[in-house]
Amino acid sequence: MKVLVVFYSMYAHIYRLAEAIAQGAREVGGTQVEIRRVPETLPEEVLKKMGAVEPQKAFAHIPVCKVEELASAEAIIFGTPTRFGNMCGQMRQFLDATGQLWADGALVGKVGSVFTSSATQHGGQESTILSFHITLLHQGMVIVGLPYAFQGQMRIDEITGGSPYGASTIAGGQGERMPSENELAAARFQGKHVATIASKLTK
Ligand SMILES: Cc1cc2nc3c(=O)[nH]c(=O)nc-3n(C[C@H](O)[C@H](O)[C@H](O)COP(=O)(O)O)c2cc1C
Repeated sequence: MKVLVVFYSMYAHIYRLAEAIAQGAREVGGTQVEIRRVPETLPEEVLKKMGAVEPQKAFAHIPVCKVEELASAEAIIFGTPTRFGNMCGQMRQFLDATGQLWADGALVGKVGSVFTSSATQHGGQESTILSFHITLLHQGMVIVGLPYAFQGQMRIDEITGGSPYGASTIAGGQGERMPSENELAAARFQGKHVATIASKLTK
């Protein structure tokens, strides 16, 4: 049973969550977990101006995803930073190249799940995840979120990401905040939860 974690990240917040998601999924026996990043679409000079060149080195070793790879997994967990309350353009472009998979029904019945990151606490994490789900539903995927069984999303003693829709982190206006222990725990929970459900569906 294969779980694919597919992400885009500019300053490594989503990458950190992706590693935690993968860690959680690996806890489920018989699960093979692979992490992939979607292709960058911005020119190098724009990435330089945005201060993304150094942070992106942290995950340069992760292979770039080919759309056909999506068909080989039983579950796919997507990670995207928020862009104006929506998924980032790099992820949108990647998904818009999955028309053949849609035509073949290649993703029908697979488990789909989403996690995200935003600069601010109320900057659109929920809208990013929920609007992402629309694409997954068009592909016939079975949506899985982050149930309240992950109690850490009830916390009000500290600022934290994480909602029933999926794991998330709050990066700060300058990207100065990295995922907290609670947010990483949410990501591990989501990874394990998705892998557990996918393994039941594939029996
Ligand atoms: C063009 C653009 C639009 C953004 N829109 C939002 C937004 O709507 N709300 C928000 O809180 N953060 C927004 N951000 C901040 C990113 O979500 C933040 O940099 C990202 O979550 C960090 O994750 P990463 O390091 O994995 O890329 C935006 C950033 C850019 C570059």
